[in-house]
Amino acid sequence: MLNWDEYNQDKTPAAVKTTAQPATKEKKPIQAKTIPAEEAQKNEPALESTSGTNRSEEAEKTVENLDLTAAIDDFDAMAGRVQVDQKAMINCKADLNQLVPFKYDWAWQKYLDGSANHWMPQEINMTPDIALWKSEDGLTEDERIIVKRNLGFFATADSLVANNLVLAIYRLITNPECRQYILRQSLEEAIHTHAYQYCIESIGLDEGEIFNMYREIPSVSRKAAWGLKYTQDLADPNFKTGTDETDKKLLKNLIAFYCVLEGIFFYCGFTQILSMGRRNKMTGTSEQFQYILRDESMHVNFGIDVINQIKIENPHLWDEEMKKEATQMILQGTILEIQYARDTMPRGVLGMNAVMMEEYLKFIANRRLTQIGLDEEFSGATNPFPWMSEIMDLRKEKNFFETRVIEYQTGGALNWE
Ligand SMILES: [Fe+2]
Ligand SMILES: [Fe+2]
Repeated sequence: MLNWDEYNQDKTPAAVKTTAQPATKEKKPIQAKTIPAEEAQKNEPALESTSGTNRSEEAEKTVENLDLTAAIDDFDAMAGRVQVDQKAMINCKADLNQLVPFKYDWAWQKYLDGSANHWMPQEINMTPDIALWKSEDGLTEDERIIVKRNLGFFATADSLVANNLVLAIYRLITNPECRQYILRQSLEEAIHTHAYQYCIESIGLDEGEIFNMYREIPSVSRKAAWGLKYTQDLADPNFKTGTDETDKKLLKNLIAFYCVLEGIFFYCGFTQILSMGRRNKMTGTSEQFQYILRDESMHVNFGIDVINQIKIENPHLWDEEMKKEATQMILQGTILEIQYARDTMPRGVLGMNAVMMEEYLKFIANRRLTQIGLDEEFSGATNPFPWMSEIMDLRKEKNFFETRVIEYQTGGALNWE
């Protein structure tokens, strides 16, 4: 019967001897003595097949006979070392494996800033939330609706954003420094989904109810469905940019996700939960949302820079029809978010009401319109929640972020407004 001692003495082939780790070999015989005979017999065929002889020889032969012509032809076709002026946001023919030289410093800087602000949901203390949620008179029914609706919307919304990034946008944005940020953003979206799941699990909500709200609660599902329709074509693996029609589809997807989904659809919920935290309620959930809002505000800024750069490089795409459509998309998003505000705040709650939220959303909509070069829609709209801007601006929120900044910031100044 084969055992590890025999393996070491007789069966070790030359090829394996050269690569095996001695330390591992010394440990194995001790392990073998503790394996019952029956168990060892059961393992016999597997040990034979993993003895290395055939597999190593086969691998050696394959490496010797490797035909790399096709791949080397591909390298040649990429026209050698990339020059800055060959780089482009979309439809770029230069090699996308070469990160440098940088053309879009703003994209690289956002990657650095995002990485310097890494955080994880488990670091936030959820104990006060658990006690408050379980207490009978800690929260009003309206406040409970706000917590549940928002966890319901966000628990799936960030997955929609992540899937759109990975399955649609990533391959169509043909610039390595932007792709580097998109990879960073994708990780952050995964962390956000984790954060919502962590809140839901901590306070013991019905997971089935919360994760299905995007299908079952109309004010939530209408927002999700609105975003999803801009993903469908682009997520098709056969979709390619390169014509005016397909380039415009990509542009519309970017406007839908960065300006509307992340730029408008998140704002009612963020304001409600953060307002709760300001009143010392659901402080753990609120802290999670503060970190998420900080990330999201950078996602929106990145998306707006991408959209504007594509416009600069492809001015023919930004025609009257496209401007009209982009405006309509932002206005439709605003209407859907106002409906969501009314549904989640049937009465005044937490010092705010649906009318104030409508004013705030119109103020945000004006901002999104002008950020991509379109005219404002709601003249004179003001911000009834100036504290929201302070939370988004890390430099002004010293007390809250102080410890985290020290812990996570590894270099560079935080400056992303
Ligand atoms: Fe997110
Ligand atoms: Fe995001």
